[in-house]
Amino acid sequence: MKILIINASPRKNGNSAFISDALAEKYADKCEVINLNQLEIKPCTACRSCKANNSLCVINDDISTQVYSKLLSADKIVLISPNIMGFISSLAKILTDRFYCLKTSDRKTKFEENKKMFFILTQGAADRNHGEMAVSWAKKFFEQYGLKTFTMVIPNCSYDNHDGVKIKLDEIKMNVSMF
Ligand SMILES: Cc1cc2nc3c(=O)[nH]c(=O)nc-3n(C[C@H](O)[C@H](O)[C@H](O)COP(=O)(O)O)c2cc1C
Repeated sequence: MKILIINASPRKNGNSAFISDALAEKYADKCEVINLNQLEIKPCTACRSCKANNSLCVINDDISTQVYSKLLSADKIVLISPNIMGFISSLAKILTDRFYCLKTSDRKTKFEENKKMFFILTQGAADRNHGEMAVSWAKKFFEQYGLKTFTMVIPNCSYDNHDGVKIKLDEIKMNVSMF
């Protein structure tokens, strides 16, 4: 079982990083971690070269050189994004836009069968429903790629401490293991 953990927060030591670190410790022998905030990444330019050539993306950046191969080879991907203005972070959006090349020109997914996506949204708001739009979008989006998808909203994530995450950490770890 290969697990890929992706932190899509722009903050190096925020709530999403706290979750990412805790999961990395738990799955140390079978996981890889990507911090999008440490990579050079560029948005999709809609050049459609991937469709014309049935290839991966031609953009020369760290998503092309480091992320695609890890996404495609992982059995379980854990993507952690903050709720930013009611949706996912801009780093997570750039990454998901770059999924464009992960379908063939005849719209078939390039992920092998039985791959999984565990999507976690950390948010400041106390009401989990506040994150509903982002997580229901994520579920639909990743399922279009054939990824069995589970989502969690982690509320009460303050900018100043990790208390909101700490009380949910056991639940997060249990769900990631069971999924
Ligand atoms: C620019 C910005 C916009 C935000 N928008 C929302 C929001 O719409 N809803 C919400 O619940 N929290 C919002 N937050 C709070 C973050 O989602 C929350 O603090 C999150 O845990 C930050 O993740 P991080 O610590 O991993 O960076 C926002 C934070 C920032 C900086």
